Amino acid sequence: MIKVSIIGAGTMGTGIAQIAATKGHQVCLYDTFDGAVENSKSKLNKILNRLVEKERISKDEKENILSRINFTQDIKDVKQSGLIIEAIIEDLEIKKKIFKELEKLVDKECIIASNTSSLSIASIGGACQRAERVLGIHFFNPAPLMPLVEIIPAVQTSKETLKNAKLIIDSWGKTTVLTKDTPGFIVNRVARPFYGEAIRIYEEGIADFATIDWAIKELGGFKMGPFELMDYIGNDINYTVTETVFKAFYYDTRYKPSFTQKRMMEAGYLGRKSERGYYDYSIDMPKPIKNRELGKRILWRILSMLINEAADALFLNIATKEDIDLAMTKGVNYPKGLLLWADEIGINNVLNVLKDLQEEYGEDRYRPSPLLRRMVKENKSFY
Ligand SMILES: NC(=O)c1ccc[n+]([C@@H]2O[C@H](COP(=O)([O-])OP(=O)(O)OC[C@H]3O[C@@H](n4cnc5c(N)ncnc54)[C@H](O)[C@@H]3O)[C@@H](O)[C@H]2O)c1
Repeated sequence: MIKVSIIGAGTMGTGIAQIAATKGHQVCLYDTFDGAVENSKSKLNKILNRLVEKERISKDEKENILSRINFTQDIKDVKQSGLIIEAIIEDLEIKKKIFKELEKLVDKECIIASNTSSLSIASIGGACQRAERVLGIHFFNPAPLMPLVEIIPAVQTSKETLKNAKLIIDSWGKTTVLTKDTPGFIVNRVARPFYGEAIRIYEEGIADFATIDWAIKELGGFKMGPFELMDYIGNDINYTVTETVFKAFYYDTRYKPSFTQKRMMEAGYLGRKSERGYYDYSIDMPKPIKNRELGKRILWRILSMLINEAADALFLNIATKEDIDLAMTKGVNYPKGLLLWADEIGINNVLNVLKDLQEEYGEDRYRPSPLLRRMVKENKSFY
């Protein structure tokens, strides 16, 4: 079994190390900052203790998992790895620097992957002598629990690297989807309207946070409403992803961030972690207005925008229809794949909602994907 090294012992690095060690790999978990590896070790210890309490693993298994991980501040410990997954700070220059360093320490067969959420894999690979061994392997938080992993070959990635990386991640019991090296990959691209359109509905005064969340959960079957979810993710993180995707798409207005969220971030209303976000967690939660007509309008608007994004990702060959649907159900727990959902509610109905919005607002944000128009014209369905 190959040795797996993880660079960066933060939230994602610790989770990925847990998975690899649980699957029996020798793991090297490296971080440069003082206290980071100790912190990671104590967090992992707590998580494993909880799994022992719940009888998911035995005490012996817990000890074995921990003993397979070498928590280190010495980068040379990555030597002899078969796979390295980088999960450090989301900064292209710092990532490039570490990829250059890593490449000098490992054999030419070693796959070097980045867990980046938003940076271009081609640009990270561009820093390497052997870019054919570089690709994106994007886990979701919390990595040990979320089944989805997006696999992202860059233009330079070899077929062999792609095949071998996918084999390893599949063998960890993950659901892998293949996606093109474009901003946000599948999930962080297709999910943008879940947040953006919900905020827009609030900004227009159509409904408050609680009512929008109620409509999405009660009528849409989503586990969490957009505002609850943004508070859970953190408004700082969610805003940054939105802004990064917006810039990366050359300021396409479809991905435009909102002032409401920016102000939340600036005010330090980050969500659950700061006790205050869209909701104030120190007091009782506000009650929604349970008006089904209003709720349906909210749901249809957000859902049509999501389906439009999914259809456009398919139109531009970012991924297959199956992978786009899998990504949203396994990566962000959507109750149904968006393209399958479109078939069920009628692609023509979705197209009509988008056309109405575009006509009413005159904004490019609501432009329907050419694929939706084409499918309606040809009377086709996705499945
Ligand atoms: N948090 C998420 O929900 C999530 C989900 C998917 C992907 N990601 C991506 O994973 C990566 C890590 O995110 P995170 O949330 O785990 O961050 P984090 O801040 O929790 O952890 C990053 C770790 O990297 C370390 N680090 C920073 N610079 C380093 C360097 N030069 N060398 C070695 N270690 C260094 C830090 O000390 C820290 O421990 C980012 O690229 C992020 O975009 C995050």
